Amino acid sequence: MQRFVIALLGASAALAAPTASIKRATVSGSAEGFAAGVTGGGDATAVTPTSTDELVSYLGDSEPRVIILNQEFDFTDSEGTTTSAGCSPWGTGSQCQIAINQNDWCTNYEPDAPTVSSITYNKAGVEGITVASDKTIIGEGSKGVIKGKGLRMANGVSNIIIQNIHVTEINPEYVWGGDGITIDGADMIWIDHVKTSLIGRQHIVLGTESSGKVTISNSEIDGTTSWSAQCNAYHYWSVLFLGSDDQVTFKGNYIHNTSGRGPKVGGKTVLHAVNNYWGNIDPTGHAFEIDSGAYILAEGNTFDSVKTPVSTLEGKLYTGTDCSSALGRACVENTLTGSGDFSGTASDVLSSFSSKAAAADKDASGVPSSAGIGKI
Ligand SMILES: *[C@@H]1O[C@H](CO)[C@@H](O)[C@H](O)[C@H]1NC(C)=O
Repeated sequence: MQRFVIALLGASAALAAPTASIKRATVSGSAEGFAAGVTGGGDATAVTPTSTDELVSYLGDSEPRVIILNQEFDFTDSEGTTTSAGCSPWGTGSQCQIAINQNDWCTNYEPDAPTVSSITYNKAGVEGITVASDKTIIGEGSKGVIKGKGLRMANGVSNIIIQNIHVTEINPEYVWGGDGITIDGADMIWIDHVKTSLIGRQHIVLGTESSGKVTISNSEIDGTTSWSAQCNAYHYWSVLFLGSDDQVTFKGNYIHNTSGRGPKVGGKTVLHAVNNYWGNIDPTGHAFEIDSGAYILAEGNTFDSVKTPVSTLEGKLYTGTDCSSALGRACVENTLTGSGDFSGTASDVLSSFSSKAAAADKDASGVPSSAGIGKI
C-alpha cells in the first residue's frame, strides 16, 4: 500500500512544473450548524492575488472563485486619508478611543462630550471590501493577512467561505473607523479560523438586514488594543448580532481581552453559542449582552475568570441540559471558573435548533490554542 501511494505522489510531482509549490491551501473541514452545506467557490481553479487591486477584483467579481492569500495585503494607504471633527465621549486620556463625527454622530448622540477639532484617519478602513457570492477566501499557513480594510458581505450575497485569515489594523484609534467582518443582508456564510485584531469599531457585525444562516467557528477575537472606549486596553466593540432574521452558529471561538459586546445579541437572532472560550475579559466589562429578540442556546462554553458573563438579559437564553426531545441529545453544561452567573431557563428556544444544532464537546479548554489563524 505504501509503495502504491509513493508511486502516485511521484507521478503527480512529475506532472507539476518543477518550481510550483505542491502544497496548496484548500478548505479544511466543513461548516457545522446553520451554514452547513456552504460551498463558496466550490471547485473553481484557485487564484492567488498579488496586489490589493487584484484581491478586490477577485472578491467582487461575479465568478465563483477560490482565492488563496499567501501574503499580507496592506490597504492602509490605498485610499489616502481624510480629516474630520470628532469627540471624546469616553475620556480624553491617550488610551481612550476617539469617535469620528460620522453622520453627525457626536453632534446628535454625544453633544456634551469634549470635541476634537481634527482627526486624520485612513479612508480605506471605513468600508470593507465587497465580497460577492460563491467565493472561498483562504489563507496559506499564517500568511493571509488583510490590513487596513475589512470584508463586507451585503446586498443579498450568499455562499461564502472565509478561512484562516487575519483582519487587522483598521483605524483602531477611532470609533467609526471601520469594522472587521461585516455581514448585512446575506445567506450561507462560513467564517472559520479567522483572527480579528485592532479594529476601530466592530470586530464582527451582522447588521440589521437579514443575514440568514451563518456559522462562525474556531475564530479569535483579540481585543487587545492601545485605544479603547474604556481607556483600559480592552476593546469594547467585539461581536454584534443585529439581523432581522438570522440563524447563527458560534462555535469554538476564542474571545479575549475584550470588555463588551462579546457578543451583543438582538434583532431577531437565533444563536447557538457552543464550545466557545472567554478569557481575560475586562473585569469592569462583560461578555454577553442579550437584548429582546435574541434566542440563545449556550452550551459547552468556558468562562475563565469572567466577572460578568452576561450584563443585559432581556432576550431568551437556555443554559440547561434537558435537550433530548428537541436535539436528540442532552445539552452540555457550561464551565464557569472564577466567573459570575450565566444561566437561562428559556427552553422554548430549543425548537429553533432542532435540525441545525452543531455537536457540542464536553470540554472547550483547548480552544485558545486551536482558534484563529495558522492553526490548520
Ligand atoms: C490580555 O489581558 C490580560 C489581563 O489583563 C493581560 O495580562 C494580557 O497581557 C492581555 N493580552 C495581551 C495580548 O496584551
